[in-house]
Amino acid sequence: MTASANTPANTPANTAAWIPAKHARLEVGPAPYTRPGPDQLVVRNRAVAINPLDWIIQVEGSLPYGWLRYPTVLGADVAGEVVEVGTDVTRFRVGDRVLGHAVGTDKDSNNAAEGAFQHYTAVSEKLACPVPDAMPFEDAVVLPLAVSTAACGLFQTSHLGLRHPSSHPEATGQTVLVWGGSTSVGGNAVQLAVAAGYEVVTTASPRNVDYVRALGASLVFDYNSPTVVPDIIEAFQGRTLAGAIAFGATSAASCVRIVRKCRGKKFVALATPPVSFERLGDPDRGRFAHPRLLARLIGANIALQFAARTRGIGLKYIFGTTLKANEVGTAIYRDFLPAALAEGRYLAAPKPMVVGKSLDDIQRAMDVQRGGVSAAKVVVALP
Ligand SMILES: NC(=O)c1ccc[n+]([C@@H]2O[C@H](COP(=O)([O-])OP(=O)(O)OC[C@H]3O[C@@H](n4cnc5c(N)ncnc54)[C@H](OP(=O)(O)O)[C@@H]3O)[C@@H](O)[C@H]2O)c1
Repeated sequence: MTASANTPANTPANTAAWIPAKHARLEVGPAPYTRPGPDQLVVRNRAVAINPLDWIIQVEGSLPYGWLRYPTVLGADVAGEVVEVGTDVTRFRVGDRVLGHAVGTDKDSNNAAEGAFQHYTAVSEKLACPVPDAMPFEDAVVLPLAVSTAACGLFQTSHLGLRHPSSHPEATGQTVLVWGGSTSVGGNAVQLAVAAGYEVVTTASPRNVDYVRALGASLVFDYNSPTVVPDIIEAFQGRTLAGAIAFGATSAASCVRIVRKCRGKKFVALATPPVSFERLGDPDRGRFAHPRLLARLIGANIALQFAARTRGIGLKYIFGTTLKANEVGTAIYRDFLPAALAEGRYLAAPKPMVVGKSLDDIQRAMDVQRGGVSAAKVVVALP
């Protein structure tokens, strides 16, 4: 085959940080270079970011994402240069600087070539966005999964169904509750809701109040305060709720209690399950940790759904990649984000915490993310 302008002259040698099997630590080794599908780009990754999902899949093994075929390549956030584009791609060219949401762990992909933790990743054109020249890849890479997840919860008609963001949003006169504004996803929910013309009430620790205000939040409450729920209910007197989007442990139950007392749209879009996966990977975990967690998860979900339904509140989990199959993906990654980033109207937030400079550093980076961060995204730069 003759190389065209859309195809690299020689097939590049790829390397990946593989997860060889369930529960296994990452191992760096050779990986195939995969040509893009018709609607894909191949990105030479210069930075990847870590999300809780990466270590949750690793420590848990099968409860979420039980469909994964091992060995595989985890990771959802990439930023780098386009090296090849598929036949149907018109929006990008070889050499473009882009960020992309990699969806290799989705059930309908289940494909190592589409995971982030390698040098070359095949990314859907629909979930990619140009990166301004002045923006370092380490900054840009904090965005993709966080933007996607926030957008799914805020804009999909199955969730809050809000008006889409734009360059000159008209004020809607309505207020969104973002529980967890200092989480990586929550900060993007704040920015997106404001860009769509909504006022935002949010939560954060006192150390992050200025940060979430800089993203556009009007009112910020400390989620550790014993009076946070009544305080937020009080703040909503005289306001019209456009719905709540919930990130972080305890967020779901708190949002249900608040939404119940507000005027407006009684709906909670939920990103965090009410039971933590955190201790599952501990070496001293008991034999029955897994079935016990499953039982607690089912029980907590039933209780939550019951509490919501009996109070006339809609409650729905977010799956942060569903926008790839509906109008929200295009509205965000094509119609909104490129210009918003180029014009500085949208911030690459939270700030990157760069913990390494090669694929060998990704396992450690996952461990750092698991240890907990505050308004920061763990990032690994790649050579
Ligand atoms: N469903 C999906 O598709 C999807 C996708 C992405 C993420 N998620 C989930 O969404 C959540 C956020 O993910 P992330 O990557 O954005 O997290 P993250 O950035 O790692 O979250 C760290 C932040 O969590 C905040 N926090 C801790 N406990 C909280 C609580 N009880 N309520 C509110 N905030 C709390 C802390 O705020 P302070 O420092 O201010 O205390 C900290 O800044 C996680 O549970 C993640 O698993 C779900």
